Amino acid sequence: MAQVHIDESQFVDLKDKVTIITGASSGIGLAAACFFSSHGARVVAVDINAFPEADTNDNIVYRKVDLTKWNEQLDLFQWTFDTYGRIDVAFLNAGVAEIEDVFVDTFDGNGRLQEPQHKVTKINLLATINGTKLAIHFMRKQTQHGSIVITGSGKCFNGIGGTPMYAVSKHGLLGMLRTLAYDVPPEFNINVNMVCPFWTNTGILSPEHREKLASAKKCMQPANVPAIAAAHFSLNPKVHGMALYAACGKYTDIESGFALTRPIWIGAENHLDRVLFEEDPAISGFKTKFN
Ligand SMILES: NC(=O)c1ccc[n+]([C@@H]2O[C@H](COP(=O)([O-])OP(=O)(O)OC[C@H]3O[C@@H](n4cnc5c(N)ncnc54)[C@H](O)[C@@H]3O)[C@@H](O)[C@H]2O)c1
Repeated sequence: MAQVHIDESQFVDLKDKVTIITGASSGIGLAAACFFSSHGARVVAVDINAFPEADTNDNIVYRKVDLTKWNEQLDLFQWTFDTYGRIDVAFLNAGVAEIEDVFVDTFDGNGRLQEPQHKVTKINLLATINGTKLAIHFMRKQTQHGSIVITGSGKCFNGIGGTPMYAVSKHGLLGMLRTLAYDVPPEFNINVNMVCPFWTNTGILSPEHREKLASAKKCMQPANVPAIAAAHFSLNPKVHGMALYAACGKYTDIESGFALTRPIWIGAENHLDRVLFEEDPAISGFKTKFN
């Protein structure tokens, strides 16, 4: 697995980058809003909850948006594009923990089993797919390069008990990243990458959970570790399709290790079949369609 060193001297180039950050009122998004704006980026801080007054500055504009509402997210991107003439960075970061127990049975007034609300999937997965679509739509119109950074999780590639829908949503985002890594046409001038945090000290964890993890001496990194990875992706247009695991303050490139070890975990023959028959779109016929 490849460790990635992030060179901090590059961050002077964040100056004037028009940057949408979702989930910006807390945790990783807040750390990103502070980090980007302190380097002169023009941050559009997006959240359903108010942006903390103590953290605001002249480079941050707060927009209240419920990302699960298509029209609100569309208006956000349209407003940003109209106001600044471009969107350099979309850090699609908002998310929630396992806030609904979809396998707990609930019944309506007639005693019929109810369909789950799928809150986690709507926020973590569908709203982020919509954000990615909107970012591609607007970034394609501009001459400047556009960078999309998605917040995944260690749960992109590990199940572990207790959070089935969270794992579904994060696995889903990784699947989208892996596809777009192949399919976003180079002429769009857009790179798409993902930061996958391990335990990070934010509002997503309950105080009891944080205390338990801390007392178990698990590694709990500060929120600026994933935020700095997002800044790194924003400034490196050639880096595309990378899922960077951010754990205990260190960064590991998951996708290069994943590709390198594929003959081991899928079997050498199966690996070859996939290379031959699936990964060349001319043979497979599979390619994401854009207008
Ligand atoms: N903290 C961790 O240990 C950890 C680990 C892996 C991945 N992540 C991911 O990091 C991302 C950021 O989470 P965090 O840890 O900073 O948590 P957080 O709770 O501190 O911040 C999440 C923010 O998203 C906002 N949000 C939620 N639903 C929204 C909606 N519908 N519309 C607009 N805003 C909405 C919340 O209001 C909140 O401000 C999430 O995608 C999370 O899954 C966190």
